[in-house]
Amino acid sequence: MKFFIDTADVDEIAEAAALGILDGVTTNPSLIAKTGRKHKETIIEICGLVDGPVSVEVTAEDTDGMLAQAEEFVTWADNAIIKVPLTQAGLKACKKLSSQGVGVNVTLCFSANQALLAAKAGATYISPFVGRLDDIGAEGMQLIEDIVQVYANYPALSTEVLVASVRHANHVHQAALIGAHVATLPFKVINQMFKHPLTDVGIEKFNADWAKVPKDA
Ligand code: G3P
Repeated sequence: MKFFIDTADVDEIAEAAALGILDGVTTNPSLIAKTGRKHKETIIEICGLVDGPVSVEVTAEDTDGMLAQAEEFVTWADNAIIKVPLTQAGLKACKKLSSQGVGVNVTLCFSANQALLAAKAGATYISPFVGRLDDIGAEGMQLIEDIVQVYANYPALSTEVLVASVRHANHVHQAALIGAHVATLPFKVINQMFKHPLTDVGIEKFNADWAKVPKDA
């Protein structure tokens, strides 16, 4: 399973990259806005911090506008890939970009049918939002299960399932059991994944016992 980090905060990205578990980054307009920084300089800095793909989201709502933004974004770094929304305009842009060999992450997916359409349009990644479905009382993880199953039924489809809108470590556990290809994780979820109370208790015990061991000169 690949882990991306879902942030535009360069300090968080550098810290996660240093852990040696990071395969890429996803950004979106909200995450960029949270940094208070300019878009282009932030993306270029992020792309320099990781080897894997960095999703850069278009904001245009028409296909030509999306393609114009994409054309610019891919000049910023070799590992920049394009994030488009799951709309008709977005999937037209996806088809064009993927046929040119540009990586595309199709975002704002909330149904298996949408995921099928994105795969047909040549998406590299489909991003179903589990947390936002949970927020409205739906079963976010059921959607991941459905999409993984639907894609498995058609091995010619090469789109990877990128679990997005992850809110806690249990989402990651569930996504991994289902066999999703990628999860994009807020920094706090990466930290949660390391934690287990018995690990802390175990370290305390080892340290206490180690203190009793006579030391060599
Ligand atoms: O990258 C998009 C997605 O992960 C957004 O998550 O928490 O805003 O629903 P959230």
